[in-house]
Amino acid sequence: MGSFRGIIEAMPEQSLLILGRQPALGLAELESLFGASAVQAIGTDAALLSRAPSSVHFDRLGGSVKLCRVLTVFDTIKWPEVQKHVEQTMPRSLASSDSKLQLGLSAYGLSFKPQQLTAAGLELKKILRKGGRSVRLVPNQEAALNSAQVLHNRLTGENGCEIVLVRDGAKTICAQTVAEQDIESYTLRDRSRPKRDARVGMLPPKLAQIIINLAASEQNPTGNFTVLDPFCGTGVLLQEALLMGFSAYGTDLEPRMINYTGENLDWLDSNFQLGDVQVRFEDGDATTHLWEPQPSAVACETYLGQPYIAQPPVDKLATNVRTCNVILEKFLRNIGKQLKPGTRLCLAVPAWQISPQKFKHVPLIDRLNDLGYNRTRFEHIRDDQLLYYREDQIVARELLVLTKQ
Ligand SMILES: C[S@@+](CC[C@H](N)C(=O)[O-])C[C@H]1O[C@@H](n2cnc3c(N)ncnc32)[C@H](O)[C@@H]1O
Repeated sequence: MGSFRGIIEAMPEQSLLILGRQPALGLAELESLFGASAVQAIGTDAALLSRAPSSVHFDRLGGSVKLCRVLTVFDTIKWPEVQKHVEQTMPRSLASSDSKLQLGLSAYGLSFKPQQLTAAGLELKKILRKGGRSVRLVPNQEAALNSAQVLHNRLTGENGCEIVLVRDGAKTICAQTVAEQDIESYTLRDRSRPKRDARVGMLPPKLAQIIINLAASEQNPTGNFTVLDPFCGTGVLLQEALLMGFSAYGTDLEPRMINYTGENLDWLDSNFQLGDVQVRFEDGDATTHLWEPQPSAVACETYLGQPYIAQPPVDKLATNVRTCNVILEKFLRNIGKQLKPGTRLCLAVPAWQISPQKFKHVPLIDRLNDLGYNRTRFEHIRDDQLLYYREDQIVARELLVLTKQ
């Protein structure tokens, strides 16, 4: 089939992001950082962002798994028309190199079968080989290659290329991946810390990044921007804040947790390159503590109450909900007196999945205004989509994004 025209750089000021397992969280994160008008949801798995890929700090996004540059848009979602267009759109630069190319294709929201994508890849391989470039194709087991396949086959490297096809209504966006989620770094940050504690829960670093981005609401804050976590536990959120270039301040009721945080942050300092940031942590009951100096933003996973592996009896759950609600309310009243108006907070609070997809929320969610806070509304998602959980999990984390009145 045909030779390629190379329509790259047609849309240099646009990025396409492939969202993570809970796409609503990824969309909220993008909206928080770049503003609602810069973000457009594409199907259920992707978003267009009106920013050049080079201006996106992709490793600081917890809710997106791939960052792509848009090559072009096809006026069809039909196979084999899309295949033909892909062949004509292949970046011209791919042909002009002697080294072997690692090639992969991924499709989102389209009805293409993995075998069709692999066949299209083999066709591209033939075309490129005719032009003198040898190619190794990553075969598709699924319609989309996952982050591990992109990473391990070096598809975003100098000699790699992943073509991403995303359905947008009756059109297909054709893009090339420029960065994928660094799963190895996330695993290291999650599993290799010297102190972990299953009892206080394991906040995934990706979710910590989302919480911070929802609270900080910008990628390049100026001055000494300090993120406060008043329920810091083993310090995952402080760790991620420091890696993102923020200063961090953590407190926790339990001195043992503060010792864990100290050990974990020493480990972080010896294993990662941290910028010019400051860190501070001390014991403190979040319902009464006085934080000094005032933080720029508050980002935390609050007390989540009893862990459950099966549905608890109704009265036990009611007691647990009450306890969590009391701590949360006292905390919000206490910190509210100390924050400047306009300060943003993102709190991961418990919500209980009492039947599939049906959640019991902490009651104070309905009284946030009376407590002195405004809840941030997002244009691209509903409030009830800001939940992080696995299907069979009873205690979910609900993200409350607030501004101090
Ligand atoms: C869900 S854990 C947070 C875990 C944390 N994200 C981490 O990285 O390990 C909640 C933490 O809140 C602490 N906590 C509970 N009640 C508290 C209170 N009144 N004031 C401060 N911390 C509290 C617990 O000791 C626990 O470490």
